[in-house]
Amino acid sequence: KAPELANSPPMGWNSWNHFACDIDEKLIKETADAMVESGLRDAGYQYVNMDDCWHGERDVNGFIQPDEKRFPSGMKDLADYVHARGLKFGIYSDAGLKTCAGRPGSQGYEYQDALQYARWGVDYLKYDWCNTGEGAAQRNPIEAYTTMSRALMDSGRPILLSICEWGDSKPWLWAKNVGHMWRTTGDIINCWDCEVGHGTWASKGILPILDQQDALRSYAGKNAWNDPDMMEVGNLPTLGENRAHFAMWAMLAAPLIIGTDVRQLDQPILDILLNREIIAINQDPLAIQGFRYYQDEKLEIWLKLLTGGDFALAFLNRSQQGVEHTLKFDLLDLEDSLHHWRSKFAENHYTIVDLWNGENSRDTRSALTVQIAPRDVQIYRFNKVK
Ligand code: DGJ
Repeated sequence: KAPELANSPPMGWNSWNHFACDIDEKLIKETADAMVESGLRDAGYQYVNMDDCWHGERDVNGFIQPDEKRFPSGMKDLADYVHARGLKFGIYSDAGLKTCAGRPGSQGYEYQDALQYARWGVDYLKYDWCNTGEGAAQRNPIEAYTTMSRALMDSGRPILLSICEWGDSKPWLWAKNVGHMWRTTGDIINCWDCEVGHGTWASKGILPILDQQDALRSYAGKNAWNDPDMMEVGNLPTLGENRAHFAMWAMLAAPLIIGTDVRQLDQPILDILLNREIIAINQDPLAIQGFRYYQDEKLEIWLKLLTGGDFALAFLNRSQQGVEHTLKFDLLDLEDSLHHWRSKFAENHYTIVDLWNGENSRDTRSALTVQIAPRDVQIYRFNKVK
């Protein structure tokens, strides 16, 4: 059984969405500094994760080495730098012979790579699924991820395992005690409602990924999170889309891995990422993924149960027009059948906090009328009055 390193969804940063292969030690160090200075570290974003393309070749004894032009000081030095700033250090590999970008993969070197990562001081491994063979000759994903999971456990260092198999073999059914989170879907792109085909696979925007999450909620929990992919917050074109994406990933109890350049964040984007109330929805100790409670052609309402009898409601406007919606609590029946929860508004009384502006003037004795801007989210916390 994997060590308990993710009692709440992991939070941090990863290089891929913004930088792809263009990474080096200067970027990682500047990112670590920016995480501290911006307040992101103190808000809970603790991992600084390199994705694909940090690799050089294996040495004569088979130990993987970093690209020496891009990482001349070496990985131990880089991990020390990150740790000295109160952050954790993440790395990337692949269960095949090569990574997606053609760097050396870990197949056949799992124990040696895990040992090398432990020596460097790695805290987090994202483990990808490219070049694992075709058809009947493809590696068995359960075998492949279990081998790396055991190698990490034997490495002598607690290392979080992020399974990046894109959902094809339904990892929610088998990955619970193998890794701490598993990708549910292919690669995210910085787009609201599109899919971009690449032959046998497609990248998806925010809504197409979101549409695959509700069905998976029963599999999520402590140390076992559905991962709808790293965030595009800061990379989407409008403030509303960035807000909506962040709020929905919070409602999904998704890992909150920032995928933009944190060295030059606009204040409004930083304010989204630093919203402590929304982070608290995501990190809530009940560890229950939210679900879609209501849906029409423009609007969705999602509900997430929280500790202490509280809950969150997010009103997502998928459309390009503004939407108004009124909840009348005396007629309302909010229910989570999976967790045998039901709110009886006749007996329970809640105060309602708007999580974008902190306003808490309302309560459930009157109706709640919500205006949601195009491609945006209004999100509220309902605090149970005891
Ligand atoms: C595919 C993964 O799904 C992405 O998140 C990223 O890690 C790339 N591979 C890197 O090559």
